[in-house]
Amino acid sequence: MSYRRIAQLRTAVAFGDYLNQIGVELPFDEEMAPGGQSPLAQPYVLGDFTIGNRFCVQPMEGWDGTPDGRPSALTARRWQRFGQSGAKLVWGGEAVAVQHEGRANPHQLLINEQNLEALAALRTELVTAHERSNGRSDDLYVGLQLTHSGRFARPDADHKLKPRILYHHPYLDEKFGLSADYPLLTDDEIRAVIANIVQAAVWAQQIGFDFVDVKHCHGYLGHEFLTAYDRPGAYGGSFENRTRFLREAVAGIRRQAPGLGIGVRLSAFDWGPFRAGEDGVGVTAVNGQYPYAFGGDGTGRGVDLAEPIAFLQLLRDLDIKLVNLTAGSPYYVPHIQRPALFPPSDGYQPPEDPLAGVARQIAITAQLKAQFPDLAIVGTGYSYLQEWLPRVAQSVIRQGMADFVGLGRMMLSYPQLPADVLTGKPLQRKLFCRTFSDCTTAPRGGLVSGCYPLDDFYKQRPEAAQLAEAKKASGE
Ligand SMILES: Cc1cc2nc3c(=O)[nH]c(=O)nc-3n(C[C@H](O)[C@H](O)[C@H](O)COP(=O)(O)O)c2cc1C
Ligand code: SF4
Repeated sequence: MSYRRIAQLRTAVAFGDYLNQIGVELPFDEEMAPGGQSPLAQPYVLGDFTIGNRFCVQPMEGWDGTPDGRPSALTARRWQRFGQSGAKLVWGGEAVAVQHEGRANPHQLLINEQNLEALAALRTELVTAHERSNGRSDDLYVGLQLTHSGRFARPDADHKLKPRILYHHPYLDEKFGLSADYPLLTDDEIRAVIANIVQAAVWAQQIGFDFVDVKHCHGYLGHEFLTAYDRPGAYGGSFENRTRFLREAVAGIRRQAPGLGIGVRLSAFDWGPFRAGEDGVGVTAVNGQYPYAFGGDGTGRGVDLAEPIAFLQLLRDLDIKLVNLTAGSPYYVPHIQRPALFPPSDGYQPPEDPLAGVARQIAITAQLKAQFPDLAIVGTGYSYLQEWLPRVAQSVIRQGMADFVGLGRMMLSYPQLPADVLTGKPLQRKLFCRTFSDCTTAPRGGLVSGCYPLDDFYKQRPEAAQLAEAKKASGE
């Protein structure tokens, strides 16, 4: 199946015509408002903090920390570039594990007493870079994303998957080779994870972060709780039990780190796993009913927002105002999570035009925003829009369909995009992320992540040649 490349849609009319042709609706402003008057430039008041504009840097891991979980020079470079971007909300920088067994890869950052100084320096580098390029940082809101990778933990140098699971999932157990007697995390082990999250939040506050994200997305541990319908005991079954992890973590943070902001990144909907069909195009692996998608309609390919709405209601009751909405998981349904024309090495050819994936996330975010006008909502999945990203983003914010536009991959290829949009500079087209997925393929092969195709710094690294070899060998 072939889809038109965004780069071929050179005018707004051509872009609009193509959207009509494929039956996809996207908000779109014909004209960009001049710099300071843009809805994207307007501040957002969050409690007693005023966030300077409506761009958010999404958390983007680099698989480039040291084995003991400290940032490397590559990590520092990425965070500096996040700082320079001009975005005034930085959602966590990247996933930081609260314990070794919960690391998604042996190079993931780890928060503990020994690493605090290095993590503090990382935040300072981001803030300093921001001040240098943007003049001030009193309106810059910086968080730390706290994670336990649960089913997708791969903490050790052997690069083996060492899942920590909450329940037996018929599809994912099979996909990742887990036997029926593979052990589940016990309730006591869950309480220990919660204690580590609380301790991590205390440290994050000490080293100057404005907020922490109690992560509930992408198939990792927090997200898995939300579908632990079959788990007996205190953390599974009813909605109340499936959200006990969140509530206990939040209560602990409030007790031990008073004044620290709390956010939640949520996969607001999910589908059943996809796999490559005979022609390489993604097909659903679900045969029959699929009750394991949070925000799913039971078919594995549809959306039902009843439980996500209950979850947002709970966040509101817990006085959590900052919410980042995303979708699915990169491990089993990447096309709904990070729409791309070119799949990563462990993916499949897109089963729909990636614009449909972008539009789905924008529309569902808008639906939820309409129900929760008082929450500060970050939207996700914009990078595929490339040239047209600023006009869609402006339209989303102007119409109140989200409060912040979150940028992921575009922050690796073209981190200055927000600054260029906000100052009305011409956009640097050659830096638009073209969704080649090398930033995902590289770490799947044990290499550091980065934008190899477009960032000269990565083009010249030795890993670029290794990546090219690996792609050639796999026939890409
Ligand atoms: C290389 C890479 C690393 C990522 N790391 C994280 C992460 O640490 N935490 C997280 O919540 N999402 C992570 N994501 C997902 C992004 O934050 C974002 O949701 C996704 O890329 C879709 O947004 P985009 O279209 O702007 O790229 C990562 C994505 C990529 C490609
Ligand atoms: S490698 Fe670069 S161009 Fe490719 S998806 Fe990642 S950020 Fe985009």
